[in-house]
Amino acid sequence: PAARPGASTLPFAELHLHVEGTLEPELVVALAERNGVTLPYPDVEALRRAYDFTDLQSFLDLYYANMAVLRTAEDFADMTRAYLRRAAVAGVRHAEIMFDPQAHLVRGVPLEVVVDGIASVLATSEEDLGVSTLLLAAFLRDRDEDEALDVLDRLLALGAPIVGIGLDPAEVGNPPAKFVRLFARAREAGLRRIAHAGEEGPASYVTDALDLLGAERIDHGIRSLDDDVLVDRLVAEQVPLTVCPLSNVALRAVATIDEHPLLDMLERGLNVSVHSDDPAYFGGHLDDNLAALSAGLGLTDAQRATLAANSVRSSFLPAERRDALL
Ligand code: ADE
Ligand code: ZN
Repeated sequence: PAARPGASTLPFAELHLHVEGTLEPELVVALAERNGVTLPYPDVEALRRAYDFTDLQSFLDLYYANMAVLRTAEDFADMTRAYLRRAAVAGVRHAEIMFDPQAHLVRGVPLEVVVDGIASVLATSEEDLGVSTLLLAAFLRDRDEDEALDVLDRLLALGAPIVGIGLDPAEVGNPPAKFVRLFARAREAGLRRIAHAGEEGPASYVTDALDLLGAERIDHGIRSLDDDVLVDRLVAEQVPLTVCPLSNVALRAVATIDEHPLLDMLERGLNVSVHSDDPAYFGGHLDDNLAALSAGLGLTDAQRATLAANSVRSSFLPAERRDALL
């Protein structure tokens, strides 16, 4: 695809992306028709008007409801392909993509269907679009750990091409301590480990994700700023924090883009990078997030270059491809 006017030519790695969060309203409606699923909205515009959130839970309610249209491997493939085409235009050269296996299993969609649909597109993304990809399975922290352990075992038995695991969504009341065994098993299986922490939850969840889960990257982590001891540690260890500005504003974790702490985080020496989380729901892709930071916070070219380099450096790519992108 041709680069958009004004699009960054710097190579970025997209490290915080839920593939189910890339389902655009148009695709929701098209897949509903294809699969004979009845939506509680008369048209795309009515669905789009529902994308007005007050907090994380109000978003999650719509996010899970829309997943009802994803039934076949082709549906998962179409969603993944549409995301990667758009990401390539945004300057993304590498994407580490999370999916929520449990969200589909509870709806009766077999694991193989989900994995095959997504993985079939990822397998050729570098040659088709110039975007290398890695896949991670994210586990639902509001469900119990035994279920997560069972799903992880089934993914491994299937030979699912995952490089790691993550932990999402509803943070408050579901602390990292709940998933110690899951993360230990993932580590034994040679998987990489990331976790959402410090989005709506407290800074102590970031500390616990590092200490109890061995998380190698923290998704969001903005509430770390409430704890100076933690900030010093994150700086010293250069723990990657994958920050999603438009998501934070849409879910009201931050009041407005002008008040986003990203530049303070950069100035304090934290290893932050910028990502899109759920681009279909929060007003945009990686390039849209960067544009919002430029307009709202006066992000400079030098800061933009630091964010790009941090994203590549914090990826799970083999050193050779990583160095080629730096
Ligand atoms: N799953 C999808 N988007 C999420 C977010 N912003 N926070 C937690 N879980 C999520
Ligand atoms: Zn997320």
